[in-house]
Amino acid sequence: MENRSTLWWKSGVVYQIYPRSFQDSNADGIGDLQGVINRMDYLAKTLGVDAIWLSPFYPSPQADFGYDVSDYCDVNPEFGDLATFDRLVSAAHERGLKVIIDIVPNHTSDQHPWFIESRSSRDNPKRDWYTWRDAKPDGKEPNNWLAVFGGSAWEWDEKTGQYYLHSFLKEQPDLNWRNPEVQKAMFDVYRFWLDRGVDGFRIDVAHYIMKDPELKDNPKNTDNSQGELKPTGDYGSIVHLYDKGHPDVHKIYHELRTILDTYSPPRFSVGEIHLKDWNEWASYYGKNNDELHMPFNFALLVAPWKAQVFRKIIESVEKVTPPWGWPNYVLGNHDEPRIAGRYGPDKARQAAMLLLTLRGTPTLYNGDEFGQTNVEIPLEEQKDPWGKRVPGTGRDQNRTPNQWTSGPNAGFTAEGVTPWLPLADDYKTVNMEYELKDPTSILNLYRKLLSFRKLSKALQSGTYQSIDPVPQECLVYLREFENEKIIVALNMGETTARLDLHRFGRLEIIVSTGMERAGKVNPSLIDLSPDEGLVMRVI
Ligand code: GLC
Ligand code: CA
Repeated sequence: MENRSTLWWKSGVVYQIYPRSFQDSNADGIGDLQGVINRMDYLAKTLGVDAIWLSPFYPSPQADFGYDVSDYCDVNPEFGDLATFDRLVSAAHERGLKVIIDIVPNHTSDQHPWFIESRSSRDNPKRDWYTWRDAKPDGKEPNNWLAVFGGSAWEWDEKTGQYYLHSFLKEQPDLNWRNPEVQKAMFDVYRFWLDRGVDGFRIDVAHYIMKDPELKDNPKNTDNSQGELKPTGDYGSIVHLYDKGHPDVHKIYHELRTILDTYSPPRFSVGEIHLKDWNEWASYYGKNNDELHMPFNFALLVAPWKAQVFRKIIESVEKVTPPWGWPNYVLGNHDEPRIAGRYGPDKARQAAMLLLTLRGTPTLYNGDEFGQTNVEIPLEEQKDPWGKRVPGTGRDQNRTPNQWTSGPNAGFTAEGVTPWLPLADDYKTVNMEYELKDPTSILNLYRKLLSFRKLSKALQSGTYQSIDPVPQECLVYLREFENEKIIVALNMGETTARLDLHRFGRLEIIVSTGMERAGKVNPSLIDLSPDEGLVMRVI
């Protein structure tokens, strides 16, 4: 029987590693799997997370930096090889860390042997592994679908005289998941990695894999706010009704769950699912704990920094999560501007406190624990294909190298080597080594929150309850498990706020965002400075 409080993916904290930018071990300016191994003690001991999620490390022409996979069952030589991967898994497991890998089921690279075969002729056995359609009589695309990364979702293939579908770049043709052979091949990919000992998967654009079988035209959009992955440019001009998320998708994740459950202990799945409709979003948990373990929840990541907005989101999540399900929160990843860059260093501290004290699995993004910010890179030097095609969408700014030391290249790569993306100017003071020595650094705040979370059943698995009444620029909540009561209070406003929490009895501060307040407080008179947050225990 499942025991909610002991399942690692419910009680633990996930840390996302973008391998290219994490740690270079062989002085080529590109992070690699050996680099991750070299930092394993930092992850398990110094920081104290419970699981790592590795963004794609598979062979790939890197048109979309690894999200264009040309072989699902190998490692890109830039990152290492399968033996390095196996050593990484052992190094993680030896330290009690779980390993989640990224899987990209919606599309392959156009260099994947499956696609090369598929495009070789109309009667190739793999033709139907992708979506090929004739042009309209006037030569135009088969329908009005658009690619997330700009332009039409259809690319003309001169040789065989048909269009193929790609929801992202033309170098990322969409697999046809309605074909049973594709399903079998992809489930075999999942098994390949499960048999190698991975603990779970982060499923890239999980809802995109099933489209309307008739490929109907999408309706025009009038409000441009569908909760897409940044609906910038013309992509937001249509409602994405038919090009993703067809209800048949649920059968696929049901089958995947069955596979994951045959392993002992059962393996984990989290889907990247950007959807604004809470009920549709929650449908990916399944009808009876039988699909994904969690759909990623990005709502806070894209919300304005306002206590009332955050509170509403958290309460919606609490309401919509099925009784067997488990919430989760994300405040940074490789696709979005960094939190410290968006809101500044003080709010980044509050973000850490919020993320690590809500009910639900937190996913941290590498470098956010040092307070890394966005790095401005001139357009002509940008590498991200999306940023180059659609102004304002560039993701290089939040993918710059991890800042480890004040030394050359921030310890990311050797002296004299040019890192694949430029380092931030602030790296001499915003880095692991420097911050470990400063008791009030954001890194030490993360460490303190993480270590307290490990000790607190209320934070790991207790209930959530918003606290009322409080000044409206404050977000205040209670986490409770048996006799343990933890109150978190965040002032998200611009002026000092005063709280009266005397009805809870005596309170003691465990962690403050500034790292300088501790011990008993007068519960009827708690002043919170702008951007300040407190974790308190009812004593
Ligand atoms: C997901 C990934 C993103 C990638 C896209 C296409 O959104 O997070 O980085 O570019 O899918 O695979
Ligand atoms: Ca390297």
